[in-house]
Amino acid sequence: MFYCFEFLVSLSSTFIRYRSIKVGSRSICGQKSTMGGLQGLLLVLFLQGLLGSSHVQAINNRFLPDSFKIGVANAAPQIEGAWNEGGKGETIWDRFAMTRPEMIIDRSTPEVACDSYHRWREDLAIIKGLNSQFYRLSIAWSRILPTGYYNGSQSINQEGVRYYKTLLRALNALDIEPMVTLYHWDLPQQLQDDFGGWLSPKVADLFAEYARLCYELFGDEIRWWITINEPKQVCEAGYGVGVFAPGIFKPGEGNYICAKNVLLAHAKAYRIYDEEFRATNKGKVAMVIDTPWFEPGSQRPDDVAAAERARLFMYGLYGHPIYYGDWPEIVKDRVALRSYGEGLEVSRLPEFTPEEKELIKGTHDYLTINYYATHMANATGEAPFDRRSTYDDMNIIEWLNPAWPKGGPDWFSIWPMGLRKVLNWLKETYGDHEIVITENGLSDNTGDIQDPHRIQYIRDHLSACLDAIYEDNVRLVGYMAWSFMDDWEWTGGYGSRIGMYYVDYNSPNRTRTRKASALYFREVCKNRCLVANCV
Ligand SMILES: *[C@@H]1O[C@H](CO)[C@@H](O)[C@H](O)[C@H]1NC(C)=O
Ligand SMILES: *[C@@H]1O[C@H](CO)[C@@H](O)[C@H](O)[C@H]1NC(C)=O
Ligand SMILES: *[C@@H]1O[C@H](CO)[C@@H](O)[C@H](O)[C@H]1NC(C)=O
Repeated sequence: MFYCFEFLVSLSSTFIRYRSIKVGSRSICGQKSTMGGLQGLLLVLFLQGLLGSSHVQAINNRFLPDSFKIGVANAAPQIEGAWNEGGKGETIWDRFAMTRPEMIIDRSTPEVACDSYHRWREDLAIIKGLNSQFYRLSIAWSRILPTGYYNGSQSINQEGVRYYKTLLRALNALDIEPMVTLYHWDLPQQLQDDFGGWLSPKVADLFAEYARLCYELFGDEIRWWITINEPKQVCEAGYGVGVFAPGIFKPGEGNYICAKNVLLAHAKAYRIYDEEFRATNKGKVAMVIDTPWFEPGSQRPDDVAAAERARLFMYGLYGHPIYYGDWPEIVKDRVALRSYGEGLEVSRLPEFTPEEKELIKGTHDYLTINYYATHMANATGEAPFDRRSTYDDMNIIEWLNPAWPKGGPDWFSIWPMGLRKVLNWLKETYGDHEIVITENGLSDNTGDIQDPHRIQYIRDHLSACLDAIYEDNVRLVGYMAWSFMDDWEWTGGYGSRIGMYYVDYNSPNRTRTRKASALYFREVCKNRCLVANCV
């Protein structure tokens, strides 16, 4: 257990995405039926034969409501490649992978990835073929502004602008709605060199200028904007434990400074849209926040409180400033307590000025969640004060429920109910807003074309969505599956396969091959139903 706990903490605090599936030993949720026709029946038999049935969870048999849109998601640094082509500038992930190969599990780099920069037409055909209503993609900052700075029109890389304009127009022509992330972790390296990246508030100003430029350039094509993706990973992994680019190790310190600057960047970009573009372009802007669901280890009040504390440190660190204008009280209290315990005179958690609170509060047009797994949380004693980490600030024991199937590393603990619970928690905590699941999916290390484990994961999580919609009245309006094809999974490299299409990284064409899950997803999007006969 101790080993498991240590392993879990080190991995979950870095959120490295290697996920694989042990098909043989895992349980499968039973089902009434699936898809339709012979193909569906064969799939059911195949799933049951391969996996056996150890517990039964009914799959929701209602139709996906019209208001609930399904799409797929990915991001520039994970699929585009062409890292130094078309005028693109270097990013912190280019630099990190190339100069610190030991940090990437297969010592790979994003230099070529899926070569989507050149093969995007093929990718749009795949996405259309899946009957996807949305494509969540990201714009690479350094493809538009190679050094990150906007110094007038001469600093714009027109080739990058043309690339995204053509892609976005093609998407709209195919009647696939673009949902566009402005920052998916790929900071222009120049801004890291000049200011220390997100440790400086200067980057928030530069991000806001970049955002304004994107609204100007692409505003006609885009209704759904995302400012920043998964700030927790940007900050905790990038500037806390230092296992993600830019690899800065300042646990319990750098991550909080980063969090504040990322929130300022988001808020400034949101305000610019609100004041200068919303009237014309009529879009929506949000930050995408990720968290596992934390389930208490028991119903004892201290364990229940520990789970809630974990949620507030993970999601609330970003959600609370955006919805309420300040960090969660418990986060302020805990970081202050431990800071004073270390002998510091001020908390390691930076404060917001009244002006900053006003700026950040209310900068949301929809609620977001990237959800993959559920973790357990127990109360624990105070860690010694000569130790400093976000986990000690959070003051929980994080562990895994051994009854649940796992994907890849131990921390990937699969419990679809966790998705329903996190949706309800978002509604209770932040109010009854439109919610979009901006990421959900399953990776394995096999890349098998027959991927019943992925079909099951998608089906069970979509069923949890329908339960939340129909049983709990959660206003869930979107689900973006990660992902339509395999990609470069950051420190998980190319061996971590999370796509509904297999990508052959040994072929110069990066050939994409359909997996079984793509067929399933296509049918769900078409029939708007998870079982044979919806009611
Ligand atoms: C843009 O301006 C900044 C200062 O605001 C300067 O440091 C940078 O070198 C300039 N970059 C270009 C490409 O002109
Ligand atoms: C968490 O608490 C539960 C209930 O008291 C207990 O059964 C379990 O062993 C605890 N787990 C850890 C890792 O402490
Ligand atoms: C790669 O793509 C080109 C052009 O589409 C095609 O002619 C060629 O046969 C492909 N090569 C492989 C190995 O698939």
